[in-house]
Amino acid sequence: MRFERSHARRAVALAVTSGLVLLASACGGDDGDSGGGGGAAGGALEGRGPITFATGKDTSGNLTNQVNAWNSQHPDEKVTVSELPESADQQRAQMIQNAQNQSDSFSVLNLDVVWTAEFAANRWVTELPEDQFPDLGKLLPSTVDTGKYRDKLYAVPVTSDGGLLYYRKDLLDKAGVKPPTTWAEMKDACAKVKALPEAKNINCYAGQFEKYEGLTVNFSEAINGAGGVVVGEDGKPNVDTPEALEGLNFLVDGFKSGMIPKAAITYQEEPGRRAFQEGNLLFHRNWPYVYALANKTDGSSKIAGKFAVAPLPGLKGAGVSTLGGHNYAISEFAKNKATAADFIKFMSSEERQKANVEKTSQAPTWASLYDDPALNKQFPYLAPLKASIESAKSRPKVVKYGDVTTAIQEAAYGALTGTTPPKDALAGLQTKLSTLITQ
Ligand code: GLC
Repeated sequence: MRFERSHARRAVALAVTSGLVLLASACGGDDGDSGGGGGAAGGALEGRGPITFATGKDTSGNLTNQVNAWNSQHPDEKVTVSELPESADQQRAQMIQNAQNQSDSFSVLNLDVVWTAEFAANRWVTELPEDQFPDLGKLLPSTVDTGKYRDKLYAVPVTSDGGLLYYRKDLLDKAGVKPPTTWAEMKDACAKVKALPEAKNINCYAGQFEKYEGLTVNFSEAINGAGGVVVGEDGKPNVDTPEALEGLNFLVDGFKSGMIPKAAITYQEEPGRRAFQEGNLLFHRNWPYVYALANKTDGSSKIAGKFAVAPLPGLKGAGVSTLGGHNYAISEFAKNKATAADFIKFMSSEERQKANVEKTSQAPTWASLYDDPALNKQFPYLAPLKASIESAKSRPKVVKYGDVTTAIQEAAYGALTGTTPPKDALAGLQTKLSTLITQ
């Protein structure tokens, strides 16, 4: 029954959408898709009862507390967590497979901010009536924007993410150097710290360079940090430029010179965090969640109390973070959508986000939490984090995001591993992106 209804809805949506596509292309729409989504207004969110929450592996360690807080108040509408893999790409693949099977086994989806267009256009997630989420105006505007597709809301921001430069304050202080604001200063600081007898074997810098979504993030930051773009303000790819080449070369030369250790080509977030916590890295680009974990005094971190954070460095001054984060959406095929909507409201509330930031150092989306004096005192990373998020650059907002990120990852990985000369990697990427992102 549900199957037939959703088919009928899809036919209507398709008819409505073809009109929208024409309209969008006439106005120079920015998504480069050829169909799907944006059509029928969100149906009523009906049905109450148990639901599931599909989310990537919880690296924060606090998800169970958050879900238990809901479950203890809602014994008849319990949430069961379906934990997906650690890698963003693998989470996406499982969610897509679930949607293509029209399965109701995932109710609420924890979507990476870059998946909204794809999930909305394919009608894998339900449009959310904005009036049911009255607190949206109190969240950082850039985070709310990531939950929208063609001006309609499909997902509510629960955590944001901005890249931070973690550094060993103890060693920098000892060597008498300030935290770097440029890549050249970072290299210089490294040489000075490595001259200290206790730091002669430390590696200089690592981010996330394994071939997965994190590489798209780090590649984009390198390009943006040198004044280049992957996709311009006009929505057109423009990555074959001298600025982009300088940015990519920061990473390519980093690997060649040994400033970035060879092992970093296998790093996702967690292996990088572990290397930093083991005391093997002087500088580390990672997300805010690392702050709490690296400061643990239970023996899991060798550098608790010995590090600090700064904004990412760039070529000529402060760098540019890629905007990350996670939004909660409701699967189109879910049962008990009224419960799902309430769970999203609960998890995105100021109270829950405050409880979460106190435990995990994940980036909240409520603007007020960054201005709270007590929190700022306790968590000095909040100020650089807010600056990082507010100046962060989004990845392309496109329906074919899966193909776009694969193209970026292949080009970046080819250059970093020395298989493709950086100039050729950028030229090839420009050609691919031009076919994937059409106006
Ligand atoms: C973090 C970010 C997300 C990004 C991912 C890459 O989870 O929040 O936006 O895509 O890292 O690994």
